[in-house]
Amino acid sequence: MPAKNYTAAIAGCGSIGEAHMEGYRGLDNVKVTACADPVKGARDTYMRQYGIELAYETVDEMVRKARPDIVSVCAWHKLHMPLTVAVAKAGGVKGIICEKPMATSLAEADAMIEACEKNGVKLVISHQRRFTPGWEKARDLVKQGAIGKPQNVEIRVAEGLLNWGTHAIDGARFVLGDPNPVWVMGAVERRTDRFERDTPIEDSCIGLVHFDDNVQFQIQSDLYWEGGYDAGKFMVRGSEGMLWVEEMQVRLFNAETRGWKDVQLDAAEGAKAIGGATNAAQVQELVRWIEGGPAHRGAGRSARVTLEVMMALYESARRHHVIRLPLTERGYPLELMMSEGKLPVETPGRYDIRGFLKRDGIDEGEYAKLRASGVAHHEAMRRLHGAGRKG
Ligand SMILES: NC(=O)c1ccc[n+]([C@@H]2O[C@H](COP(=O)([O-])OP(=O)(O)OC[C@H]3O[C@@H](n4cnc5c(N)ncnc54)[C@H](O)[C@@H]3O)[C@@H](O)[C@H]2O)c1
Repeated sequence: MPAKNYTAAIAGCGSIGEAHMEGYRGLDNVKVTACADPVKGARDTYMRQYGIELAYETVDEMVRKARPDIVSVCAWHKLHMPLTVAVAKAGGVKGIICEKPMATSLAEADAMIEACEKNGVKLVISHQRRFTPGWEKARDLVKQGAIGKPQNVEIRVAEGLLNWGTHAIDGARFVLGDPNPVWVMGAVERRTDRFERDTPIEDSCIGLVHFDDNVQFQIQSDLYWEGGYDAGKFMVRGSEGMLWVEEMQVRLFNAETRGWKDVQLDAAEGAKAIGGATNAAQVQELVRWIEGGPAHRGAGRSARVTLEVMMALYESARRHHVIRLPLTERGYPLELMMSEGKLPVETPGRYDIRGFLKRDGIDEGEYAKLRASGVAHHEAMRRLHGAGRKG
């Protein structure tokens, strides 16, 4: 086996960190040497499960002592900016893969980009579905003109715009060759006190995004997603045909196909699965970027465009008018609307749709037993939260 050329470390030993671990484990040239999490049980699980030797309570200590080349930031949204900036400023790190959504405001995203660029760190945001064979094939077909001139993308997602919406918007941008957004019009409803991973989110929203070349995205979140839609699936319509895009399947409709036809995915590409393999692919592309290759398809500057579209949708609802980009609001417009009394809660009671992931206070002994018996992390956490929290 060839020598490992890079070391990596995981900041946040939770569920998506496991997908990052699977990705790193699929590579010969990167070895995960360290992890950090304030919750001891979470650190212990990673050490036991993945044979990681070094574990720390804080990310600062991890970077200072373990000196990794690459850091995966896998904590909740509000921590993406402070952890990414701290890792970049610590010096010595070559690349960061930070989880989606990039941040919850443009000010945070810009702080991340600036800290990374000033310190020579390549920043990638984990919209890892850009590496799925279906999305890659769809991008090729659009480029080859299989549907003529792209005109419209229909996106239907759920469980918060920042949660699933970021994947679908980013994916549709990828398939269309990353066009430039020009204006956004949006409407937002928040009548319950809804959060996702500690971040306030809407009950539902809808947006129309206009891009260069007169392409438009219609986005609806938490309204209607029947018909097979989710974060990985969307419909692209063009002047000469249509594409139904999924991560592992693409269907084409044009004059030649005379109806819907499955598009053959390359055999090698078809072997790629969601999770570990896409994470491995995004690490490999980061390594090539670190070594002087082209910018990563998930580079921070590209992910900022996806974030700007989502923030502009909220800001349009806040201002009751079309938002022409660039967006000037630097905060999180949904939170601003809340503090301005524009989204009064009608059904009191804060709830978090990912609250079951909170690790502190769970019975770690029970957790270890569940995992040892083959229960996946999410399911184990749901069961433990259902059974009540300690402390
Ligand atoms: N790309 C994807 O497909 C995908 C899928 C799921 C989640 N995510 C994203 O990943 C992020 C994490 O979500 P999750 O589901 O893995 O959450 P999780 O709760 O399972 O894991 C987060 C971990 O971070 C730890 N943590 C908290 N504060 C920390 C700190 N200061 N330093 C280090 N670690 C800290 C927690 O203790 C926990 O173990 C979220 O932003 C989410 O949107 C992305």
